[in-house]
Amino acid sequence: MRNVLVLLFALSLSPLSVAQSNWSLELDAEEMTRAEALYQQYCSLCHGEDRSGYRADHAPSLRSQSLLSTAFPGFLFTAIGYGRAGTAMDGYSDEMGGPLNRDELRLLTRWLLAVEGVEPVTLPDTPVQGDATLGASVYAERCASCHGTRGQGDTGPALGDPALLANASDAFLRHAIANGRDGTPMVAFADQLPEQDIDAVVAYLRSQASGWSPQPPTLRKPPAPADYVLNPDGEEPVFTLREGRYVPAAEVVRALEEKRRFILLDTRPASAWQRSHIPGAVPMPYYREKDRAGDNLPNDGTWIVAYCACPHAASDFVVNNLRDLGYQNTAIIDEGILVWTALGLPVTAGGALAAD
Ligand code: HEC
Ligand code: HEC
Repeated sequence: MRNVLVLLFALSLSPLSVAQSNWSLELDAEEMTRAEALYQQYCSLCHGEDRSGYRADHAPSLRSQSLLSTAFPGFLFTAIGYGRAGTAMDGYSDEMGGPLNRDELRLLTRWLLAVEGVEPVTLPDTPVQGDATLGASVYAERCASCHGTRGQGDTGPALGDPALLANASDAFLRHAIANGRDGTPMVAFADQLPEQDIDAVVAYLRSQASGWSPQPPTLRKPPAPADYVLNPDGEEPVFTLREGRYVPAAEVVRALEEKRRFILLDTRPASAWQRSHIPGAVPMPYYREKDRAGDNLPNDGTWIVAYCACPHAASDFVVNNLRDLGYQNTAIIDEGILVWTALGLPVTAGGALAAD
């Protein structure tokens, strides 16, 4: 568990990307050559020279349309950069002691789609509703032989890995189960199981997101959309922005004290929000799809202030997306939450590690 927390902490310090354009699937000849060389050097050992997987350690295929189209970019990037605890898939990010810097990780991620000619798709983000008890028996009967009785992995990936579950949406899991992974032993269960059973097994997997421990930690519930706006009857805050986007922490503290009307977004991974956050902050992790950046956020001029760890990468990313979606009053806490905490400013510790 400790390793997982360290891992999640590392994730919280390493936001994906600053600009959407970094994820272009148009690679020039030099990039194609460089990525191929990295792949052959670091990955072909297990995933095979032609990326079809199963060269070693049951490493999955990196060619299946079903994986590539739904996993780009965040899921692939985090799998490569941070690995899967307890499996042969290590983290390759230099932040984890691995060999690849962020540009190289990004290049590899883009190349995996580019070389296969796969276009990303956006899955609907509706949570899957299912009967987890029924799901447990479907899992035992139809899945455990390959994925392990406790999701620890066997010939199929370790579905119980908290890093996998933290990065896989319900829709992503459902898509993998219903459509299978073309060209691999993972068949399309849409042909074999009623929808209800597929939903049930997704709900069951989701219920294990705490790491298959018999005693799941008590997780704090994120605020409901109706409670997103702090001090709904308050006046607008007055912010002085550096470079048109960065607001000093002191002005945000004053706005909180004066009970001004605004929204605070924590753009780190939701696990970081669980650990601690600025009181009233809504978890809005940077790894959400661009067109979901505004989910449930009123687009009526209410000030939206985002923050991340340090310095601004995750919050820049989210705020850029919001601005592209037409949100007018958006800002980023200049210092980030690490400095905020170091200054002794108020934070709420999450339910997982500390009591309320
Ligand atoms: C015959 C073995 C086998 C069975 C049975 C099986 N799987 Fe799989 N599953 C695999 C393999 C192998 C992969 C990796 C395929 C690849 O991409 O190369 C996989 C991939 C997956 C993935 C994607 C994981 C990831 O890391 O992206 C999910 C989710 C999944 N399986 C769920 C299930 C569920 C739920 C069931 C039961 C209903 C099931 N599987 C049954 C072998 C199996
Ligand atoms: C030592 C063997 C090994 C090496 C080397 C390796 N991988 Fe993996 N990789 C695995 C295994 C095993 C898994 C499945 C882990 C699990 O159970 O979730 C995996 C999973 C993945 C996944 C997730 C796929 C999915 O279906 O969810 C991606 C993406 C990936 N590897 C990319 C890479 C890249 C890129 C490299 C090189 C930088 C690399 N791997 C190097 C063994 C390896």
